[in-house]
Amino acid sequence: MDNTNIIKHEHQLSKENRAELKGQKPCVLWFTGLSASGKSTIANALEVRLFELKKHTYLLDGDNIRLGLNTGLGFSDEDRVENIRRIGEVSKLFVESGMIVLTAFISPFMEDRKLVRALLDKDEFIEIFVDTPLNVCEKRDPKGLYVKAREGIIENFTGISSPYEAPIYAEIHIETDKMTLEESVEKIINYLENRGYFNA
Ligand code: ADX
Repeated sequence: MDNTNIIKHEHQLSKENRAELKGQKPCVLWFTGLSASGKSTIANALEVRLFELKKHTYLLDGDNIRLGLNTGLGFSDEDRVENIRRIGEVSKLFVESGMIVLTAFISPFMEDRKLVRALLDKDEFIEIFVDTPLNVCEKRDPKGLYVKAREGIIENFTGISSPYEAPIYAEIHIETDKMTLEESVEKIINYLENRGYFNA
């Protein structure tokens, strides 16, 4: 597509203005991990906690986005890259609006997570590795997808027939087989408080 005649429009209000009104430093809390690792569960509980602290948040969740904005994208490497690219752009818009964004996508490829990080300013991208061993995810199997993947009914299933590239460095590391849900949420809240994203 030729973008020659598309000129970016500068807004009168800045991200800083919008953030100040909300009393918070906008950021993306980017959860990554295997299917059934606990990304959505932790993100949901964290969002409730942030709401109670009167913070302005929005949660973008894998399955929901795939039923709307990203309908039509499958699980080939190419489609996953596009899935994450779009989520990255949407997250950036939310950050511009002053929000604390929570995203819960497998986002299996390191390069794609790096691209989203690069879209944002320093300290705006907080990678949260929901580190749950494959055998634990497989035992949980809340949607029965691992069984289907093992039977070959679902192709390109992350951890089984498609790779998951674990972060080498993530700002926050959560081990759901060793920590309770409350402890996981607390760890993230402490991280945000200690680094001045808001005052609790
Ligand atoms: S991602 O790899 O592109 O980041 P995303 O988080 O959006 O994945 O979607 C993952 C969810 O889609 C899983 O939690 C699961 O419910 C469902 N799903 C369906 N097919 C697959 C598959 N082949 N691999 C992984 N997840 C799948």
